[in-house]
Amino acid sequence: MSVTARPDSQDMRTWAVSARELVKVYGAGETSVTALRQVSVAFASGTFTAIMGPSGSGKSTLMHCLAGLDTVTSGSVLLGDTELVGLGDKQMTLLRRQRVGFVFQAFNLLPTLTAAQNITLPLDIAGRRGADPAWRDRVIDTLGLRDRLGHLPSELSGGQQQRVACARALITRPDVVFADEPTGNLDSRSSGEVLSFLRMSVHELGQTVVMVTHDAAAASYADRVVFLRDGRRTDEMTEPTVERVLEALKTLER
Ligand SMILES: Nc1ncnc2c1ncn2[C@@H]1O[C@H](COP(=O)(O)OP(=O)(O)O)[C@@H](O)[C@H]1O
Ligand SMILES: [Mg+2]
Repeated sequence: MSVTARPDSQDMRTWAVSARELVKVYGAGETSVTALRQVSVAFASGTFTAIMGPSGSGKSTLMHCLAGLDTVTSGSVLLGDTELVGLGDKQMTLLRRQRVGFVFQAFNLLPTLTAAQNITLPLDIAGRRGADPAWRDRVIDTLGLRDRLGHLPSELSGGQQQRVACARALITRPDVVFADEPTGNLDSRSSGEVLSFLRMSVHELGQTVVMVTHDAAAASYADRVVFLRDGRRTDEMTEPTVERVLEALKTLER
């Protein structure tokens, strides 16, 4: 894979993932939709960032481009030192498998596998590459799943299933975990649990999490919130609180 200089080489922080002047146009001609307009944004290693904005503002598109799930129209995406734009399909598949973790709104666990088997599935797919029993134990304990390992997804609550999905995303020690509305299917108590665990995975395990959400309460668990509107980056906020996020969203939707 190609190695490229970081976009902010004078900055001492390490960027887990960054985008430069990202443009994404769906379709062509009169019916084309421009979902991202020159978006530049960087996510530091070991931080928890929420991406927020009105429906249709480009949140999911940005996440998909950063995670190598979708191609970009122009601009650059660096995952660590690897430029994603121009990578071949095979390299992209490997990179998604080994260097990126995903948590979706629908937990997407395999119903016939136990919690433990779901968690280690990414390692099994990679032929056990990167298996590290000490890391596995830390992830399981951090996510409070020790006494649930032998259960099937159908025997777990929604919150527990999403914690298994988080553990599965973390098991390969990815450069970044991307979460798209991870609490969208959970009640407020389970949401709080999952968000606390995501935050712990950042602050105690040193992982990097980028989460798309429209929920101010969820965003308040993050270290930083990046706002989008009409495919552009507008504002950002550090140490968000529910009240400040709601206020910022009101301004965005005005
Ligand atoms: N596959 C697609 N084809 C065409 N337009 C799309 C596609 N995906 C998203 N869009 C459009 O791009 C814009 C941004 O969508 P999206 O990133 O899903 O926004 P958000 O996640 O903030 O709701 C919207 O106008 C949406 O309709
Ligand atoms: Mg979306």
